[in-house]
This record gives sequence, C-alpha cells and structure tokens, in this order.
Amino acid sequence: MLLEIKNLKKYFVQKDKGLVRAVDGVSLGVRQGESIGIVGESGCGKTTLAKIIMGLTTPDQGSMLFEGQEVWGQRTREVLFRRRVRMVFQDPYASLDPRFSVYSVLREALCLEAKVAKGDEEIRMKGVLQAVGLSGDILSRFPHEFSGGERQRISIARALMTDPSLLILDEAVSALDVLIQKEILDLLVSLQKTRSITEIFISHNLSAVRRVAQKIVVMYQGKIVEYGSVQDIFNDPRHSYTQRLLDAAIHYRVQGREDIVLKKEAVLLDIGQEHLVLSS
Ligand SMILES: Nc1ncnc2c1ncn2[C@@H]1O[C@H](COP(=O)(O)OP(=O)(O)OP(=O)(O)O)[C@@H](O)[C@H]1O
Ligand SMILES: [Mg+2]
Repeated sequence: MLLEIKNLKKYFVQKDKGLVRAVDGVSLGVRQGESIGIVGESGCGKTTLAKIIMGLTTPDQGSMLFEGQEVWGQRTREVLFRRRVRMVFQDPYASLDPRFSVYSVLREALCLEAKVAKGDEEIRMKGVLQAVGLSGDILSRFPHEFSGGERQRISIARALMTDPSLLILDEAVSALDVLIQKEILDLLVSLQKTRSITEIFISHNLSAVRRVAQKIVVMYQGKIVEYGSVQDIFNDPRHSYTQRLLDAAIHYRVQGREDIVLKKEAVLLDIGQEHLVLSS
C-alpha cells in the first residue's frame, strides 16, 4: 500500500455551529497506480482530510503509513514524505506568488531535496516543464504572463520537482474553464502513466473524477460513506447519500450551457458520453 490512513479525526469548535466533526474516523488505503477521487458536498471534510495528510493541519487522532511505515513523529520519514507526496491547490492565481519567476517557483520546491547542483537544477526544471506541456524557455517569466491553464501547469510542474509518487489535487481544475479543464485532466491522466504517479483527486465535478480516478470515495459529514470502483459507484451507488449526490449533480449541457437537470436513470443510459457534464 502506498498510503494508509487510519482512523483520522479532526473536530473544530465554531462559534455558531458548535462542534464540527470535519473528519470523523476516516480510514483509507491508496494503492500505487490506483488513483482515488474524493467527492462529497461542500463542508463534508475533503480539504481538511487533504490538509491533514499534507501536515498542514494536525489531526486530533489517527495515524498514517507511507509505503508501510509510520510517518508522523518520525523526522526522517516526514521529510521523505514531503518530497514524495505533493499537493496542487485550486486557484492557480493565488497559489503562485506574483513576485516569483517560474525559476524561483520551481527552485523553491527543490529546498526539500538534498543538495542539487546548479546545472542539474535547470535540467530538472526544463524536464518538468516539458512533462506538463510547457516550454523550458519560460524560466525567467512571471506568473501574470500566463493564462489560468498555464499557471496550473506551472503549479503541477512545481509539485513534480521532487519526483513525487503521490499527488493530492484539491479542486485543481475547478477555477478553469471547461476546455482548459479537459486539457489539465488529460495531463493528470498522462502523468499517471508516464511518471507512475498516483493521484488523490478532490472535486465537485463528478465527470472530472471519473476521468482521472479508478476508485471513488464518497464523504458525508466527515465520514467515508461509500468506497468503490468508478463503475460501481456510478452504475450502482449503494448509499442513499451517494444516490442523492448523483441525482443532484447531473446537469445536461445544451449547446455549451449546462442547465437542465436530468433524472439519474436518463444519465445512467448516457453515462459514456462526453456531452454530459456532471457537477454539483
Ligand atoms: N480551520 C477551521 N476552523 C474551524 N472550522 C473549520 C476549519 N477548517 C474547516 N472547518 C470546518 O470543517 C468542515 C469541513 O471543511 P472542509 O473545508 O474540509 O470541507 P470541504 O469538503 O473541503 O468543502 P468544500 O467542498 O466547500 O471545499 C466545515 O464545516 C468547515 O467549516
Ligand atoms: Mg474544500
């Protein structure tokens, strides 16, 4: 197992809502080469879960194994984990500092590495830029010179700098328009093959999840309520919440506009077709 999380819990106390069980006893195994989509309504705990995995939020309880070994509390394992598991965030505008050139953005990721010789640095940078479909010549340029899709490619390139085996993508295509989303999704699928990267893909967009992931986790109020292959979840959702999520999520695109909500049965007949956009 590449990543194994066991019984993770994170509760928050909020002034208006009181105790919020953001992540409430989540256990999950991620196999090498088996990308996982995480779906669920807003506030169900997806980002909190991702942040706990990335060490950005401390859990109240739980443990995490990476390649069979405990990560937390073991300094050398934590450092290795930070190189091998990288995250890509939703907003490519906010996540790239406008004062940093592409070179600096990529260079910063290398701080996690043991010393890299200057010549090797640039070779590595050009390699990752090429891997995400960008030219190696852009190192001296700045984020504002790029489109949203290009910026998200730069964010992905930054994540690739340390040669990770797992990428966690939290709504990584949500801020992009539909055609650019498709390009980035194609890139994510190709990285699974060309770089043996496993992905945890968090999204409201069920069709995007279907494209990238082989397995789906459905979260509801901090818990995993359903887990299975993409086919099983779409064709035969077991949990009533998953059924409702699929029902609520389905929009039909008419001449580029998505506004007609279809019943689940109709969509299940049509599920293989590109013109369906599933989003919540
Ligand atoms: N730092 C925090 N302090 C207090 N409450 C928090 C904090 N972070 C998250 N929460 C609460 O935890 C719950 C889960 O939030 P989280 O951001 O993980 O949801 P999400 O599934 O990622 O939602 P979305 O789909 O909108 O991104 C929410 O009720 C949220 O208000
Ligand atoms: Mg979130």
